[in-house]
Amino acid sequence: MIFEKRVALVTGASSGIGRATAIKLAQNGAIVIATDINEEMGAETISMIEQDGGKAKYYHMDVADKAAVKATILQAVSDFGPIKLAVNNAGIGGAFAPTHQVQDEDWDRMMAINVSGVFYCMREEIDCMLHHGGGSIVNVSSLAGLNGFGGNGPYSAAKHAVLGLTKSAGQEYATLGIRVNAVCPGAIRTPIIHEQAEEMFQKMVKSRVPMKRFGQAGEVANTIAWLLSEEASFLTGTSVNIDGGFQA
Ligand SMILES: NC(=O)c1ccc[n+]([C@@H]2O[C@H](COP(=O)([O-])OP(=O)(O)OC[C@H]3O[C@@H](n4cnc5c(N)ncnc54)[C@H](O)[C@@H]3O)[C@@H](O)[C@H]2O)c1
Repeated sequence: MIFEKRVALVTGASSGIGRATAIKLAQNGAIVIATDINEEMGAETISMIEQDGGKAKYYHMDVADKAAVKATILQAVSDFGPIKLAVNNAGIGGAFAPTHQVQDEDWDRMMAINVSGVFYCMREEIDCMLHHGGGSIVNVSSLAGLNGFGGNGPYSAAKHAVLGLTKSAGQEYATLGIRVNAVCPGAIRTPIIHEQAEEMFQKMVKSRVPMKRFGQAGEVANTIAWLLSEEASFLTGTSVNIDGGFQA
């Protein structure tokens, strides 16, 4: 198994892409540190992994809380050993409004979770990896990190920032045994596409996605696992679009 006994941290592991990724990594032999703020669904992820014969533990960790991120990662390392693989996936959607109508609290929450959350996690993961022989990180950005997303500027700005962090860290640690990459999913069928955005995404998929369908969380997880693995050993500071051809 490609990740045999390697410790893998996944944020936002209670649902959608994070859950699918946690399962995929465990199927490939990783010991999964599954973190989220949704304890009940986190427990479901763990039991899915355990029923499959894998190993995982749930840790409650709000990525927007830097003290909690530091404490949780230290605890996980003390429980299972150094983190070698990390997936910074936790994120929120929403904040749909034209720029002049975006509310302070929506902007602040978007930045706190989708930008600061990724940064706080990367900082601890990289520190750990630098002291324990390197590792591999994948951040979850979005097609909205490559393009404008009219009507959802805060989300687009946040996902652009995730790519900035990915590219910069990719350069910084390229000779130090740490690869940092990102994925840019298109429309993926997960709970984040809630009622407010469902209709918009349906239209977008029909008119702009050459494959004319939503992606599945497992299809994103497959690419994340590949990027984390040695199969992607010459990739760093880059991103892979998982979008049914949208960006083409
Ligand atoms: N689904 C899509 O179409 C799509 C497209 C592009 C990018 N993404 C990105 O993929 C990532 C995962 O989204 P998803 O589609 O699986 O959605 P999801 O809502 O199913 O999962 C998101 C998870 O993040 C967790 N989370 C939210 N705030 C958190 C916080 N402060 N701390 C820790 N965990 C928190 C949630 O509890 C949830 O389990 C997000 O970063 C999202 O922006 C999704």
